[in-house]
Amino acid sequence: MQRIFSGIQPTGIPTLGNYLGAVRNWVKLQDDHECIYCAVDLHAITQPHDPKTLAQATREMAAALIAAGIDPQRSILFHQSAVHAHVRLAWILECVARIGWLNRMTQFKDKAGKDRENVSAGLYTYPVLMAADILVYHATRVPVGDDQRQHLELANDIAQKFNFDFCGGEPFFPVIEPLILGPAARVMSLRDGSKKMSKSDPSDQSRINLTDDPDTIALKIRRAKTDPEPLPTEPAGLESRPEARNLVGIYAAMEDTDYATVLRTHGGRGFGDFKRALADLLIAKLSPIAGEMRRLLDDTATIDAILRDGAQRASALAEPIVQEAEKLVGFLRV
Ligand code: TYM
Repeated sequence: MQRIFSGIQPTGIPTLGNYLGAVRNWVKLQDDHECIYCAVDLHAITQPHDPKTLAQATREMAAALIAAGIDPQRSILFHQSAVHAHVRLAWILECVARIGWLNRMTQFKDKAGKDRENVSAGLYTYPVLMAADILVYHATRVPVGDDQRQHLELANDIAQKFNFDFCGGEPFFPVIEPLILGPAARVMSLRDGSKKMSKSDPSDQSRINLTDDPDTIALKIRRAKTDPEPLPTEPAGLESRPEARNLVGIYAAMEDTDYATVLRTHGGRGFGDFKRALADLLIAKLSPIAGEMRRLLDDTATIDAILRDGAQRASALAEPIVQEAEKLVGFLRV
């Protein structure tokens, strides 16, 4: 059975983008993989954050994942700061990764913006920690949204260089296969079809949060930016119509189907009708998740116990691998 690892930052309520690009696939992969899922709180402090809310945000992320269908018995669910092997391997890999490689990371450029000299060094080395997250379990498959593709390519470059430098080219670290699945691997902002939907967008209207109530979902979809043309009848007609493409992709992913099937039913109709159908679909599928999340958050002791158990199980897998990496780079053992 292949081992899966993936992570999500506890920096707010997960969005429809997180759900369709990642979490929904995580749930399905539990059936035929050994899965390890992580609320990556170490990553969450690479940008300014509020120390008073981080712990609760981490619990909320765990509750959201369980409510969405992650089963903490079958899968390992934990928070990153509780498993120290991540940081130990990250340091070793920081000494393997090349500055030139990190300089090419587009997400760093986007997040740092014009303030590049003044962001944290952690934001810069973020993708190396991400590589460590995966490699410390020898995980081979990583389900993510499209925005993480470049980070996974970097993780493979780092793994290969480690194998070359310290193992004579033997595959101590395996090759990682990104799993970028479904018609919504890149969900865009509802206000701007050229920007991805994000937890950190200042406009709440730009995203659907998994906890939005039915009226809020309906309103956000009604106000979502579109163009004046009716929906095309074929997927080719969505080219150069990013907002229309986004809404059709969301519909297709929610229905577990593809663009062509959605357009066979809805093509030729105006956006008014389509948006009503989309809002109904989102409300029907997301409301139970929000309800279950609220229920779980009434009992934080149970969530904490799940995370504690997950951290123990994760540590048991990671510890021998990080110790082997430490041995391979030559640290003294006394
Ligand atoms: P994060 O917290 O930004 O997002 C979590 C997951 O959601 C996906 N995603 C999207 N998918 C489609 N459309 C969108 N608009 C959208 N927004 C987010 C992301 O691709 C991701 O899969 N660096 C990661 C967390 C991480 C990680 C890892 C992932 C840390 N270590 C190791 C995999 C393996 C991140 O910031 O995700």
